[in-house]
Amino acid sequence: MGHSSDQRAVARSWTLETSSAQETEGLAAELAPMLKAGDVVLLKGELGTGKTTFVRGVVHALGIKDAVNSPTFSIGHRYVGEHTTVSHLDLYRLGMLEEEDPGLLGDYLTGEEIALIEWPDAAHGLLGEPRLEIKISHRGQDKRLIEVSQR
Ligand SMILES: Nc1ncnc2c1ncn2[C@@H]1O[C@H](COP(=O)(O)OP(=O)(O)OP(=O)(O)O)[C@@H](O)[C@H]1O
Ligand SMILES: [Mg+2]
Repeated sequence: MGHSSDQRAVARSWTLETSSAQETEGLAAELAPMLKAGDVVLLKGELGTGKTTFVRGVVHALGIKDAVNSPTFSIGHRYVGEHTTVSHLDLYRLGMLEEEDPGLLGDYLTGEEIALIEWPDAAHGLLGEPRLEIKISHRGQDKRLIEVSQR
């Protein structure tokens, strides 16, 4: 596992490789317990790298049994659990929605939920300081390089 760290003894960023969607879900499940209400997680990486797969791992690890799929007819989903609510946003098309009020994010970002945001660049400056940033890259076939940066 490669890593880089700041002056503190704690690693702030690390990378690892997964070889299947299940492994990426598993990594997400391991990170889920560190997330709390109000946290924002940015998910970056090209199409099909596994951002939604990562969200699925987090949601299920929090005990929420809903199916987790890409938002298609809206910019997001909310998964409501007994103890936690997760907002899942995909802002891929937001650049084309110039007429939309940026306030539409407000339905998903109330500060009371864990918010996982795919393609967050469209909302640059509106999301606050992220708790985690996840960058996923293709590494051939089912391999993915996953960089986790902690703020
Ligand atoms: N190591 C891996 N990690 C994650 N997904 C993988 C991996 N190997 C193969 N896959 C497959 O890659 C696809 C990832 O799709 P997913 O919808 O999660 O990507 P995405 O990054 O959300 O894409 P988009 O930008 O279109 O929203 C799935 O079909 C998944 O099964
Ligand atoms: Mg996706």
